[in-house]
Amino acid sequence: METIKLDIVSGDYQNGIKEAAHILKKGGIVAIPTETVYGLAASAYSDDAISRVFKAKGRPQDNPLIVHICDMKMLEKVATDIPDEAYALAEKFWPGPLTMVLKKSDSVAQSVSAGLKTVAVRMPEEKAARDIIEKSGLPLAAPSANVSGSPSPTTAEHVISDLDGKIDAVVIGNGCKIGVESTVLSIFDGKASILRPGAVTAEEIEQLLGKVDVDKAVLEEPKSSEKVSSPGMKYKHYAPKTETFLVEGSIQAFVNFVNKKDNALAICFEEESHLISSEKIVYGEMSDKKTLAHNLFSALREADNFKKESIYIHAPDKAGVGLAVYNRLIRAAAFRVIKL
Ligand code: TXA
Ligand code: MG
Repeated sequence: METIKLDIVSGDYQNGIKEAAHILKKGGIVAIPTETVYGLAASAYSDDAISRVFKAKGRPQDNPLIVHICDMKMLEKVATDIPDEAYALAEKFWPGPLTMVLKKSDSVAQSVSAGLKTVAVRMPEEKAARDIIEKSGLPLAAPSANVSGSPSPTTAEHVISDLDGKIDAVVIGNGCKIGVESTVLSIFDGKASILRPGAVTAEEIEQLLGKVDVDKAVLEEPKSSEKVSSPGMKYKHYAPKTETFLVEGSIQAFVNFVNKKDNALAICFEEESHLISSEKIVYGEMSDKKTLAHNLFSALREADNFKKESIYIHAPDKAGVGLAVYNRLIRAAAFRVIKL
């Protein structure tokens, strides 16, 4: 299959949006930019289109998808019994990188939710994404547009390198300004729980709702027998092919540690970069969690090109957006953590 490239930056914006919407209405699958990562979109009403998404990504069938909407009217089409807290959160954080797990309405295809009674919903901030949803008139189910297991795509090039020839089209937009996937929050019976951390932080949600839980799968390796609240958490994710370790400790400790390693790649902070003798990728300043989040997936994709025996990533602390960065890194490192 030839994957059509719809360039809305150097090409005609309106035409690209129109063409993407047209393909989606016909049951096609199209990669679209969002402010978090690129998504692989399909009509949330069509089991056929959704099954093509699972196939193109090689995604396990029991891992449900997020439904993307462009306005509150659409929210009420895809979810039912929406609690007051959800409206308050939508008011504050939508459009933006927050996904809410709500009760699913019957109109949404079964396969979107992988058989669950719930549906995850988000209104993206990226204008092109909302324009495509609006133009098609369809809520769009869209997982990240990568091959299952590899780092999420933050540029159109990442998408093309993973999915060219497997999907109908890719909308080539600007890079994703946030760079990690949305915060996934479930709210049932007045209880809010973060299933996956993202750019909307636990601290920000607590300002609105009071105490929120952070699901234990965010930082711990789920046991294979355990039922997880967010099926995505149990899969291997983001991992470079090279053996990868997450390292916690001060700048001095990290520098001393990696400088003793042979044939290693360091993924490190700006402040320590000049002290590190091995090859390295700098992913931002230690305290600038937003930049670390933004550069994270590109760094993980680049890492294998160095062809080293091992990769050591310096972990940021877990406050604010640091929790989202740490959550992705601990998975990239298959839960191998070294505490210095
Ligand atoms: O930022 C994002 O969220 C991106 C962009 C494209 O919007 N999408 C994304 O989708 O990251 P995906 O499929 O890669 O991750 C969806 C996550 C998975 O961990 C999945 O298990 C969880 O959301 N999820 C989806 N539906 C759920 C549900 N009904 N209950 C619990 N978790 C759910
Ligand atoms: Mg994903």
